[in-house]
Amino acid sequence: MTKISGQSHSTDKAIDKIPHHVAIIMDGNGRWAQQKGKLRTFGHKAGVDAVRASVTLARKVGIESLTLFAFSSENWQRPKEEVGVLMQLFSLVLRSEVKKLNQNDIRLKVIGDISAFDIKLQEKIKKAEALTARNKSLTLNIAANYGGRWDIIDATRRIAHKVEQKQLSLNDIDEELFNQHVSTGDLPELDLLIRTGGDHRVSNFLLWQCAYAEFYFTDVLWPDFNEEVFNLAIADFAIRQRRFGLTGEQIMKQEDNDNNNENVIC
Ligand code: FPP
Repeated sequence: MTKISGQSHSTDKAIDKIPHHVAIIMDGNGRWAQQKGKLRTFGHKAGVDAVRASVTLARKVGIESLTLFAFSSENWQRPKEEVGVLMQLFSLVLRSEVKKLNQNDIRLKVIGDISAFDIKLQEKIKKAEALTARNKSLTLNIAANYGGRWDIIDATRRIAHKVEQKQLSLNDIDEELFNQHVSTGDLPELDLLIRTGGDHRVSNFLLWQCAYAEFYFTDVLWPDFNEEVFNLAIADFAIRQRRFGLTGEQIMKQEDNDNNNENVIC
């Protein structure tokens, strides 16, 4: 086991094959639609099917947490009509899918500054989160009006408030405590970040959480993302050697030790 900032990273091959926490930057909806001579918003609507497919696969293979970047804090600057369609879609999906999520034991969580949304949408989000709060098979995190820098500032503010209230002292602040205050504090550490659409950047997503994540980039445009593409990303993750700052030799030695211990137990 390698311990980073209070979190344990198992180097056990069998356990590490399936990532515990996967995040996806769902990019390429607009281009997908434009390639078909349609409006960009057509691509966002088609993107909902890819969301469904990825949630289904995540639950099937035993991923514990799936975080999807649905709307960034910068997306407000898009044309008004496109922002309107994205809001409508979010609202529609909440209405049509929450029952199914609940039946499938999936917990829904929204991360981001939802105070900027229409009050009705905020209520829908809170209701959906409350309804699914006890579900265990998968946590589906929707990042909405989310930014990685916002997440870090929000955590800092909440910690500073506790220091001000004397609930915490300055010496209590370490990586583990900070990690508990970011929006994903109750979730496993991020293992795999996938970005569709061909660009190779993080776009202000999960900046704190990316520290030791593996990155997987694909040219596939989000509406074409399906079980096959998701499986390729998971298979690629399974063959990577995660070193967490150690050398390859140290990791191999740890794996040998783990295997020997397993043999003794057997
Ligand atoms: C990026 O593609 C995609 C988005 C900004 C929105 C993602 C939304 C969905 C997939 C549908 C709704 C999802 C949920 C969870 C309710 P882009 O528009 O930047 O594509 P481009 O790079 O081709 O322009």
